[in-house]
Amino acid sequence: MTAPLLEIRNLNKSFGPVQVLRGINFVAHAGEVTALVGDNGAGKSTLVKCIGGTYLPDSGDFFFDGRQVFVHGPRDAASLGIEIVYQDLALCDNLDIVQNMFLGRERKRGFVLDEGGMEQKAAETLTRLAVRTVKSVRQQVSSLSGGQRQTVAIAKAVLWNSRLVILDEPTAALGVAQTAQVLELVRTLADNGHAVVIISHNMNDVFAVADRIAAMYLGQMAALVPATEVTHQQVVELITAGRSGNIGMADSNLDLTDDGAGNGAPLAGIEPPGTPGKVDIKKSGDEA
Ligand SMILES: Nc1ncnc2c1ncn2[C@@H]1O[C@H](COP(=O)(O)OP(=O)(O)OP(=O)(O)O)[C@@H](O)[C@H]1O
Ligand SMILES: [Mg+2]
Repeated sequence: MTAPLLEIRNLNKSFGPVQVLRGINFVAHAGEVTALVGDNGAGKSTLVKCIGGTYLPDSGDFFFDGRQVFVHGPRDAASLGIEIVYQDLALCDNLDIVQNMFLGRERKRGFVLDEGGMEQKAAETLTRLAVRTVKSVRQQVSSLSGGQRQTVAIAKAVLWNSRLVILDEPTAALGVAQTAQVLELVRTLADNGHAVVIISHNMNDVFAVADRIAAMYLGQMAALVPATEVTHQQVVELITAGRSGNIGMADSNLDLTDDGAGNGAPLAGIEPPGTPGKVDIKKSGDEA
């Protein structure tokens, strides 16, 4: 197996007294789609924001392309080639596709904007991603469908020589046909060599595109397994109980009756400080 593009070891993150991420270990490989799943509040978005530099972790080690890196903010993440497409998309309705894709990073030719160059690059990127449904890159974003908007947001993310693209619930608001389009695009990104991480609550979507599934449970990484080695049912159990048969978290880690205000089971003692969280890279044939 190739070395992961991104590797995170023992990441912890608290907001005030509430520990939201505990001992997270995570990997993402180039050319693969990793689905990040978990119940509402499990910590998926927080993990992604730590990767993207929006949040600073309290502790944890990041490795990118085999070397240790320090992400102190979104610029550090962007300079590594990490791009995140957030759920709210952050596209400007009153601008066209080209303007949106280059927003804040406009190309200039001398003192004027290089409109032709940007237009060409935007069109090239959409073509490379096999996006066929967008008629003109000069179309206002307000006139696009939800799926097309998602497509533009993803194209914007890959425009910048990104290597790791993270999508926070890209299909949540989409109908069947648009979901299929976006998933196809997600697959294309991975096939083009990107490492892709997709957050989704939809098991059909997850199994349609994912090479690996990372399941979070109450702020911990319950399991990170090849998608071919788990069933829908097992993933649902990992999400809802942190464990499915012999996959997932050890008993001692499961009893975290945290009430969300930091008054839950004492964490000290459950996992000695500095011990990486348990990521069960299960091999086929392990099943009893
Ligand atoms: N800025 C913040 N301040 C305090 N608590 C936060 C903050 N952001 C997230 N949390 C808490 O962290 C926990 C994890 O939230 P997060 O948004 O990461 O979950 P999620 O897995 O993305 O859930 P969803 O599927 O609903 O999007 C939740 O209990 C949430 O209330
Ligand atoms: Mg979220």
